[in-house]
Amino acid sequence: MLIKTASFEISNTDHRLCPKDGRPEFAFIGRSNVGKSSLINMLTNHKKLAKTSSTPGKTQLINHFLINEQWYLVDLPGYGYAKVSKKARGKFEQFISSYLLERESLVNTFVLLDSRLAPQKIDLEFMNWCGEKEIPFSMVFTKIDKLSSSQLQKNLATYKREMLKYWAELPPVFTTSSESKFGREKLLNYIDSLM
Ligand code: GTP
Ligand code: MG
Repeated sequence: MLIKTASFEISNTDHRLCPKDGRPEFAFIGRSNVGKSSLINMLTNHKKLAKTSSTPGKTQLINHFLINEQWYLVDLPGYGYAKVSKKARGKFEQFISSYLLERESLVNTFVLLDSRLAPQKIDLEFMNWCGEKEIPFSMVFTKIDKLSSSQLQKNLATYKREMLKYWAELPPVFTTSSESKFGREKLLNYIDSLM
């Protein structure tokens, strides 16, 4: 799929205020700092469309980006950021979960996972919650430029084994690097195939 245009549309903490045009949308979620905003920039070939930062907790709102005047990429705040107060975290989780549960035009959620790490409890819990709530999702491993291909294969195998403890089959799995742009075509073609 070719990305011809990409522009910021609106930021919200309330899914009821998100765009009402019914265009299909695809959301990016995962732990703080996993690379959600960077991946959106990589996919759209923009350096600064979504705000990124080396310190976790940068994205705090539901951000809609309109692509090719046809569909939306949605950048979500990260979960599991320890420095956010418990109260603020509760609020976060509430508006993100309402968005995921209520948003009718949400076609697929990409759950981003740091390819360098062993399976994290918070990610497994989040994906199990998606399963329970029948929220369709895919797994996207990020930052693969940061490890060797043999280490990557090892980590992917560990992750798949862990997932198969809970799931009869795995959701689609993608590997990406926002640095090298690896995985861009596959991810965009997958999005295309769902529209
Ligand atoms: P929050 O908005 O805080 O939840 O974080 P986020 O998931 O949007 O992460 P963000 O895209 O801001 O990236 C966090 C840090 O990781 C930044 O310093 C990025 O430059 C870096 N980063 C993201 N993706 C990659 C990647 O594929 N490779 C490398 N080497 N660094 C990456
Ligand atoms: Mg972000």
